Amino acid sequence: MAEQKLNVFIITLFLVIINLFTICSADAPELKPVQTHDLYVCNPERFYGLSMNMSELAFCDKSLPYEVRAKDLIDRMTLREKALQLGHKTPGVPRLGLPRYNWWSEGLHGVSFIGNGTNFTDIIPTATSFPTVIHTTASFNKSLWKTIGKAVSTEARAFHNVQQGGLSFWSPVINPVRDPRWGRTTETPGEDPFVVGVYATNYVRGLQDIEGQEQTEDPASRPLKVSACCKHYAAYDVDNWKGVIRESYDAQVAEQDMVETFVRPFEMCVKDGEASSVMCSYNKVNGIPTCADPVLLKETIRQEWKFNGYIVADCDAVEVMVDKHHWLNDKPEDAVAQTLKAGLDLDCGDYFPDHLENSVKQGKVKESEMDKALKYLYVVLMRLGFFDGSDPSLMKIGKNEVCSKEHIELAAEAAREGIVLLKNDASTLPLSPDAFKSLAVIGPNANVTRVMLGNYEAAFPCRYVTPIEGLSAFAHVIYENGCENTACNDNKTFPQAVSAAKRADATILIMGSDRQIEEESRDRETLLLPGLQKELITQVTSNSKGPVILVLMTAGGFDISFAVKDPKIKGILWVGHPGQEGGRLPITWYQADYVDKLPMTSMPLRPIASQGYPGRTYKFFNGTTVFPFGYGLSYTTFSYKVTTPPKVSLDIQLDRLQHCHNLEYTDKSLENSCPSVVVNDLTCQERVSFEVEVKNEGDISGSEVIMVYSKPPEGIVGTHIKQVVDFERVFVPAKQSRKVKFDLDLCKSFSIVDDRAYTVLPSGLHKILLGTSNQEIDLNVSFTR
Ligand SMILES: *[C@@H]1O[C@H](CO)[C@@H](O)[C@H](O)[C@H]1NC(C)=O
Ligand SMILES: *[C@@H]1O[C@H](CO)[C@@H](O)[C@H](O)[C@H]1NC(C)=O
Ligand SMILES: *[C@@H]1O[C@H](CO)[C@@H](O)[C@H](O)[C@H]1NC(C)=O
Ligand SMILES: *[C@@H]1O[C@H](CO)[C@@H](O)[C@H](O)[C@H]1NC(C)=O
Ligand SMILES: *[C@@H]1O[C@H](CO)[C@@H](O)[C@H](O)[C@H]1NC(C)=O
Ligand SMILES: *[C@@H]1O[C@H](CO)[C@@H](O)[C@H](O)[C@H]1NC(C)=O
Ligand SMILES: *[C@@H]1O[C@H](CO)[C@@H](O)[C@H](O)[C@H]1NC(C)=O
Ligand SMILES: *[C@@H]1O[C@H](CO)[C@@H](O)[C@H](O)[C@H]1NC(C)=O
Repeated sequence: MAEQKLNVFIITLFLVIINLFTICSADAPELKPVQTHDLYVCNPERFYGLSMNMSELAFCDKSLPYEVRAKDLIDRMTLREKALQLGHKTPGVPRLGLPRYNWWSEGLHGVSFIGNGTNFTDIIPTATSFPTVIHTTASFNKSLWKTIGKAVSTEARAFHNVQQGGLSFWSPVINPVRDPRWGRTTETPGEDPFVVGVYATNYVRGLQDIEGQEQTEDPASRPLKVSACCKHYAAYDVDNWKGVIRESYDAQVAEQDMVETFVRPFEMCVKDGEASSVMCSYNKVNGIPTCADPVLLKETIRQEWKFNGYIVADCDAVEVMVDKHHWLNDKPEDAVAQTLKAGLDLDCGDYFPDHLENSVKQGKVKESEMDKALKYLYVVLMRLGFFDGSDPSLMKIGKNEVCSKEHIELAAEAAREGIVLLKNDASTLPLSPDAFKSLAVIGPNANVTRVMLGNYEAAFPCRYVTPIEGLSAFAHVIYENGCENTACNDNKTFPQAVSAAKRADATILIMGSDRQIEEESRDRETLLLPGLQKELITQVTSNSKGPVILVLMTAGGFDISFAVKDPKIKGILWVGHPGQEGGRLPITWYQADYVDKLPMTSMPLRPIASQGYPGRTYKFFNGTTVFPFGYGLSYTTFSYKVTTPPKVSLDIQLDRLQHCHNLEYTDKSLENSCPSVVVNDLTCQERVSFEVEVKNEGDISGSEVIMVYSKPPEGIVGTHIKQVVDFERVFVPAKQSRKVKFDLDLCKSFSIVDDRAYTVLPSGLHKILLGTSNQEIDLNVSFTR
């Protein structure tokens, strides 16, 4: 019976929040069949009209390695032709049979129209709109993240196959959320660099991998379903805050924070996800625009990570160096030279096409640097089948696979899994429709459609169902917006909302933000609900006849302490921009005064005592929160038991080339002869494996996210409080239990980054913490000679 209730509520929410995904009309108009020679370059027909014999063109010779073919093509181009191919909207080289190509497509949470690389037309008018990334992340379900990536790339291929779409997608966004005010929080997988990296790896693999060809000997020639892009590299998370804009912002970042927080997700995205593109950001880091920094680009991405794809600049980032950063008093010819030499391959914009030719002629940069960039670009296009066509499994993907039943169900599943239950007094949720015949549904987000899509959205989703439509299927709905929009600037319609709450059996307030409040180029200045939303909630709540459920449609965290404390508000749900219980917050929800304690532009993650700045993210902030990172209630209760513990002690023998590395301790008594060893000097073969049994103690089946944290030995100065090292989402039927195995890499999961930016493995007593349970596992690491 409880289960029945749960399902009803889930279905309700599902309709409320999720079912905005359309079912594509099956009777879209038929258009003229696509000519295969239009779909890829190396088709003999393409060259007939050019009086060229394809068999004589080495760039079309499939027996040659991609790099050799790319070189052949580039060698045939003039300087001017080369420059024109280095902006995102390439004209191609018609005399060589090379068609135009727009590199800019977006697939953040579904195929989007942004960038014009992919278009919505009568042939395929819609695409599945998955929940926003922050919402999907809250599921903490790795396979879900990958499966969504797969669905998006399948739809992308369908667009491509009818010549409506590109093959290079500038997604995902993997900047960790350092500050709760950031307007782009909705696009990100939250604040933890490891979680962000795991999201990136799974989503990129979902986008890029072709089934059966995930691993090949040479990763540089592995075929791609579509090309994914890890963006925006790096330390970019100020958009527009009190007049500080991203286009001229100079982020002052310590190398320790670079290694530990800002760069780590990119390293995982490139090395584990094998992404074929990285995008550098608008901002400067320590005085140098990221797109002009050879250490960040050439040295780190290309050499250290052995990256084989292409590096693209955020749109107009090269131009911005001249117009906004006024960097080195550059002229356009200098800016394009600086960035190309630093390792940038493609300009989203016109600066490369407009100025590279002159730059080379003025002797500022070698033409061979352009050849190098072009080679990376064409190798990626070859991997995508742009020259030779793709695996038949991809070429046959049709428009019926867009907005398919499976994809709509997947979007709904993601929306369900990502909803976070923040409060549930007296087990009021799930509401039983039998007990609540009428519902007052109140709030500026109660009758919304596009708001639920977030940004980088589909031009048109499969379909919309508004929250009030969804809830109407289960109860008589009395709808009042309360305020006209989320800004909620006046109280004119409060009385109608109050009156509705007085009449209905229960009240559901659907509040929060939209793109007017949090958005790209729009950071927040306060963590409080916008305008008079709090007053509306309070008035409605104090007058409501039945229990009040507060549903928050937001990207970032808001200080809703007043609602948490209000006994008449029985339940609170965070639904992101949606799309059940089980989800967990991937960001800390700070109290409103947090933002008064430090400017958004202070980049360090650690607290700064001299300035009274608190730390940032759960790793360094030890103050009181509204909800901590990882928070999320459930309709049931889970208990944990470690059934197979790991080895308690790991003693590592050092040879004469492995040296002890000093650490600073808060207390002299903690000092020891070998405080740590640099991870790069260790072989790192030790695993920390254990098994946890999760028991569902309640009467309701449900999913639990097991978060695994490591906590460094006590007393090391300046280290994180704890860090996520793994997580697993598991479904456990009522009264049953499930076993979950964890297998951690000692070096990756237990290392810290010291103040000189070394990643080191400390000796001493580490702890493994299991979620919010009080289960702790000891791990004693020691080094001996
Ligand atoms: C194209 O070139 C190949 C190899 O040089 C040659 O065998 C073939 O006859 C040529 N075809 C035409 C139509 O000229
Ligand atoms: C996309 O195309 C539309 C219509 O042609 C145009 O208005 C818009 O500026 C283009 N956007 C970009 C980013 O190129
Ligand atoms: C994780 O997501 C997958 C979809 O990829 C779904 O089948 C599975 O049930 C989810 N797992 C849990 C525990 O919710
Ligand atoms: C998309 O539409 C724009 C503007 O109409 C057009 O220039 C572009 O070629 C189209 N791209 C594709 C891939 O259809
Ligand atoms: C919801 O909004 C739509 C479009 O803005 C409007 O046409 C409709 O009447 C609204 N629904 C209700 C119940 O007010
Ligand atoms: C609306 O705001 C005005 C001005 O603050 C106040 O006088 C009035 O009582 C408020 N009305 C309601 C219904 O809250
Ligand atoms: C938090 O950290 C600060 C600075 O390290 C310390 O002074 C304070 O006592 C800590 N507070 C708590 C609640 O642990
Ligand atoms: C950890 O192991 C070392 C070496 O075996 C031992 O000397 C030390 O006492 C152990 N520490 C703890 C807390 O168990």
